[in-house]
Amino acid sequence: MILPFVPNTIYCGDNLEVLKSFPQDAIDLCYIDPPFFSRRNHVDLAKGTSEIRGFHDTWNGEISNYIEFMRARVQEIHRVLKPNGTLYLHCDVSAVFHLKVMCDEVFGGDNFLNDIVWKRHSPSKNTDRNYGSIVDHVLYYAKGPEYTFNVQYIPMDESVFNIVEPKTGRKFRSQPLVVKGNQEGKMFDFGGHKYTIKKEKALKWTQETIDERLKKNPRLIYWTGSGEPRYKTYLDESKGIKLTSLWTDIKLITSTSSERLFYPTQKPQKFMERVISVSSSLGDIVLDAFSGSGTTLVAAKATGRQFVGIDISPTGCRLAASRLGYPTDKIIGHPRTALDFKAVPRFEFVNWVCWKMNATQKHELASLGIDAVCRHSLVPVLVKQDAPLVPVDLQSIERVLESRKDDRAKIGACVALDFDATIEPFLAQIKKDRGITINRYTIEDINRDKHLHDGISVITKLL
Ligand SMILES: C[S@@+](CC[C@H](N)C(=O)[O-])C[C@H]1O[C@@H](n2cnc3c(N)ncnc32)[C@H](O)[C@@H]1O
Repeated sequence: MILPFVPNTIYCGDNLEVLKSFPQDAIDLCYIDPPFFSRRNHVDLAKGTSEIRGFHDTWNGEISNYIEFMRARVQEIHRVLKPNGTLYLHCDVSAVFHLKVMCDEVFGGDNFLNDIVWKRHSPSKNTDRNYGSIVDHVLYYAKGPEYTFNVQYIPMDESVFNIVEPKTGRKFRSQPLVVKGNQEGKMFDFGGHKYTIKKEKALKWTQETIDERLKKNPRLIYWTGSGEPRYKTYLDESKGIKLTSLWTDIKLITSTSSERLFYPTQKPQKFMERVISVSSSLGDIVLDAFSGSGTTLVAAKATGRQFVGIDISPTGCRLAASRLGYPTDKIIGHPRTALDFKAVPRFEFVNWVCWKMNATQKHELASLGIDAVCRHSLVPVLVKQDAPLVPVDLQSIERVLESRKDDRAKIGACVALDFDATIEPFLAQIKKDRGITINRYTIEDINRDKHLHDGISVITKLL
């Protein structure tokens, strides 16, 4: 598969294939948040549409299968990174130690920079027989020694600035000026206030520094009760403290977060903006090869970087596109033909049909043969992927339509990759005999928005 490498693009497909088609030394920063080897599948239902959003994280139970899957991708990421590029690999305790060994082999142990520990504030796997896990790990590697690193500061706890300057009301904390040393007897002048150094002590600043700083702020010195000078650092001037490898100040997305998009394990935008600010510059290209709902891409755009997103889930790619204002028909590799849709999991096919038809999924009716109901027209929809649609598949829709007593038209719809030859005469028959209309749509019909022209859906493409 040869794909064009274009910044500000979303690619839908297996990231290994997509990455292989990228040129080497093209990416400034890569963040990945792959399945963690949780050995379960992660699924959420979107609010309103009940669209299934999720991904598999089973590996026939074998960690070696998982690590080999990851190794192939990390090798490609190493190849596509620029010499000053970095990789952040998000994972958790399930596989972090195996991933560290594998990444050391690919990047070289000397290029391992850190293990960022994110305290997520919500313990999982909390049992009476073990500690609740409360952290994720992010393995951080550079391709070479000249990697980009912009120091970040995080705000200091305000309560540290616990003294208020009487005349100005400014909050400050005081820091020592007198330290251990051998300046005993030396006298310093703090704008007229004289101080003589005691035994085995010294002053951090020279007289010149004192004069210079007092000229800028005559109130800079804080005198303790015992008459010792200290200098003030003000809350309103504080840059904060340098970010360490322990991140505790960013909250996990929970069921009540306004950011929540019902994409399982969605990461907070603030988390991604931090990674991007530290390890890239304006205009740089940021890659997320497991981009899911597109949080990294949104953060890259918001911080003036270019994005490249890859995900195997068409639903994830469309969600990312909608967050970015990116046209869905520009998602490279998104399924378009019946053959393409044959290859995706059934829920992905149903999601696409419902998205195009603006339909709400009805999981409780799926076993009866109704997958969704169009939002405005209330037309029931059946979606068939695994085999040609035959008349018996339409029994439930027929029954529902027949029982309708109100003024809603007896119209239903079915969408399939293929239709049995008996369908056409069958549909003509039920229309003639019982006034039931069931429109049948091929993939081409849906692509051409035939359902819109038929009045089944009023608008499409809601997420
Ligand atoms: C943990 S989620 C990423 C969530 C994302 N960080 C967010 O904030 O929404 C992992 C993603 O990896 C994707 N994925 C799994 N295997 C893949 C593969 N081989 N190629 C591309 N994407 C894959 C899944 O579809 C899923 O969206």
